[in-house]
Amino acid sequence: TQTLTILGLESSCDDTAAAVVQQNGDSLPKVLSSIVFGQNELHSAYGGIVPEIAARAHAEKLDVCVREALDQSGLTLSDLDAIAVTAGPGLIGGVLSGVMCAKGISAATGLPLVGVNHLAGHALTPRLTDAIAYPYLMLLVSGGHCQYLIARGPEDFTRLGGTIDDAPGEAFDKTARLLGLPQPGGPSVQAEAEIGDPKRFRFPRPMLDRPDCNLSFSGLKTALMRMRDQVAAEKNGLTRQDRADLCAGFQAAVVDVLTEKTRRAIRLYLEENPATPTVAVAGGVAANTAIRSGLETVCSELGAAFTAPPLHLCTDNAAMIAYAGLERFKAGACDGMDLTARPRWPL
Ligand code: KG4
Ligand code: ZN
Repeated sequence: TQTLTILGLESSCDDTAAAVVQQNGDSLPKVLSSIVFGQNELHSAYGGIVPEIAARAHAEKLDVCVREALDQSGLTLSDLDAIAVTAGPGLIGGVLSGVMCAKGISAATGLPLVGVNHLAGHALTPRLTDAIAYPYLMLLVSGGHCQYLIARGPEDFTRLGGTIDDAPGEAFDKTARLLGLPQPGGPSVQAEAEIGDPKRFRFPRPMLDRPDCNLSFSGLKTALMRMRDQVAAEKNGLTRQDRADLCAGFQAAVVDVLTEKTRRAIRLYLEENPATPTVAVAGGVAANTAIRSGLETVCSELGAAFTAPPLHLCTDNAAMIAYAGLERFKAGACDGMDLTARPRWPL
């Protein structure tokens, strides 16, 4: 059997990452190393990611990141079969930094270059961690994306529906900003929600009146602002408990919407496929324990298997890029020095 060893690079948002993934034949792939340098401190003063600062930081850190990933894997460049890199979608400066770095390594070593769609990276993670067979139903939920996909192959995805405005991670981040909680908002809102009363504030459940699996999250922000201002005006400011209750109400609405839309996505899937799918979730928001357990519940109700990668492979990382590159490479795909960085690249 053939062993393939791939170095992956990721720099499409605010994490600089490099990883080495190895697969022996069709056995479960191994993550030999996965290094992630976050940039939270660089952006925290601005209340959001500043693309120019992100791009510079990626350009500075990528080589260190690659060195650490190789060192930790115990391998050298000459042990690799190919180099995979996120070629989009994402912040163009960062994507370019990664693509240039990968091209440099490829030019110097002669290693084949494989461009990877960041979203395909997230969507294939369940195969990296759990050897899930095609086809399966994927919920991709991150700071920039929210969609239901049928994954049929490494480059074969059917979109069943998705958000018509904000992504859920974006909604968590905005909620945190509106309540003065630290960024990224997901973990801080979740922590507050755990001590809050989800029933005190009634948030809307957008788009549940529609039979499809499209979603909308921007209305939650408006609702939050209105409730926050009302409480603040009554009491001359917000208490810790008010904040926690707002977080709990907001999170409960997101959980309800994602749970119900997942039920509809499974139904849609069954209209065209004979067997109940395995449902997989990935993307940064998949780190949310309330969302995970909501999805678990609906899946067990419908007899669908549910899988979620470990948290460090749900958020942005390069192991998923190395693995998606490995699948493409195995299928005979390869890119040349004309590989371009793409800000937009739908699956
Ligand atoms: O996949 P990711 O690392 O980056 C991309 O957006 O591609 O996802 C980051 C997003 C952020 O919006 C962050 O607030 C959210 O995932 N997130 C969470 C949690 N942890 C991270 N959202 C809800 N609950 C969490 N525990
Ligand atoms: Zn991502």
